[in-house]
Amino acid sequence: MIPSTTTRAHPRFKPFTIDGIPIDPPLTLAPMAGHTHYAFRSLIREQGGCGLVCTELISSEAFQNRGRYKQAVQRFDFYPHEFPIAVQLFGSDPFVMAEAAKIVVDHGAAIVDINMGCWVPKVAKKGAGAALLRDVCTATAVVEAVVKAVSVPVTVKVRSGFEDGVVTAVPFAKAAEQCGVKAIAVHARFAGQGHSGQADWDVIRRVKETVTTMPVIGNGDVLTPEDAARMLDETGCDGVMIGRGALGRPWIFRHVAHFLATGERLPEPSRAERAALALEHARRLVRTSIFREAACVLELRGQLSKYRLDEDGSVTIRNQIVRATTLADIEAVLLPLIEREHAPR
Ligand SMILES: Cc1cc2nc3c(=O)[nH]c(=O)nc-3n(C[C@H](O)[C@H](O)[C@H](O)COP(=O)(O)O)c2cc1C
Repeated sequence: MIPSTTTRAHPRFKPFTIDGIPIDPPLTLAPMAGHTHYAFRSLIREQGGCGLVCTELISSEAFQNRGRYKQAVQRFDFYPHEFPIAVQLFGSDPFVMAEAAKIVVDHGAAIVDINMGCWVPKVAKKGAGAALLRDVCTATAVVEAVVKAVSVPVTVKVRSGFEDGVVTAVPFAKAAEQCGVKAIAVHARFAGQGHSGQADWDVIRRVKETVTTMPVIGNGDVLTPEDAARMLDETGCDGVMIGRGALGRPWIFRHVAHFLATGERLPEPSRAERAALALEHARRLVRTSIFREAACVLELRGQLSKYRLDEDGSVTIRNQIVRATTLADIEAVLLPLIEREHAPR
């Protein structure tokens, strides 16, 4: 008898499109300032399972300022082989946002994403980021100006709302869709929550129920393949965005995609595999960053610590990494971890 093959693919795990751009698999990397540079994004892409990556937020005002223009342009450090990539802009002036959008598209952005989720005072005090959700009139004007300025799809990333308990994501999603926005990502927390507390995915479900054509990407607290399956089940969203769950775990998208396609869990990478990825992350950042090696290594101290390379209960490796000042220091910590596992026993 031929054994029956049972597929345990998740019924909602299907590619979607953003104005014709396929997002396949429907898993996206959240923009994260200080983390989602080319080195990390490209590692994630190589690991597989991620359908869309995004730059960190870039100030639209910086493009108006002679002194900051060059650095702003360098911040979207993407390469053509990263297609599709979204470039995220923040700002509250419709004209300035539209001008910045034209510049990033001229430099190759496939999608322009508008940040309506950042709560840090530096951004929100100027009426940008999540503060736009307090003022739907300005938010809509920004969206309209950007949509009009560029020929590529425009997306928005919002929080549930600005004031605690006041859900603006739902009415705003409808307005954004009517203005021509092609997808919305919803981080299901209010601005004042920062990253604390639990994301309330019900807001994602309500946004999905409200819009008619535009895909909805759910975001907040997806750390495991099972979380992603639960988000698809509970909210009906089209895609799942992962942020902190990917830090020090660039393979997470492959694992989530495999789980959603088969119902099976892949084994976690060994310590040597994790160390090899951390090493490649470090080398690639130093090779491709616009910043000098010393500045990269400062950033890497935090980023590499997330690869959890210590044995349970120990912090030896972590302590060595946070004291590194050169790439050679990092190599001296990581290479023995890789070689030890491959040494003959
Ligand atoms: C270190 C860090 C930097 C972030 N930077 C950005 C950013 O530049 N733009 C943005 O829209 N969201 C930013 N976020 C928010 C994430 O994109 C995401 O919405 C949030 O972390 C919730 O998703 P998660 O639970 O999967 O991490 C940042 C989050 C973290 C932890």
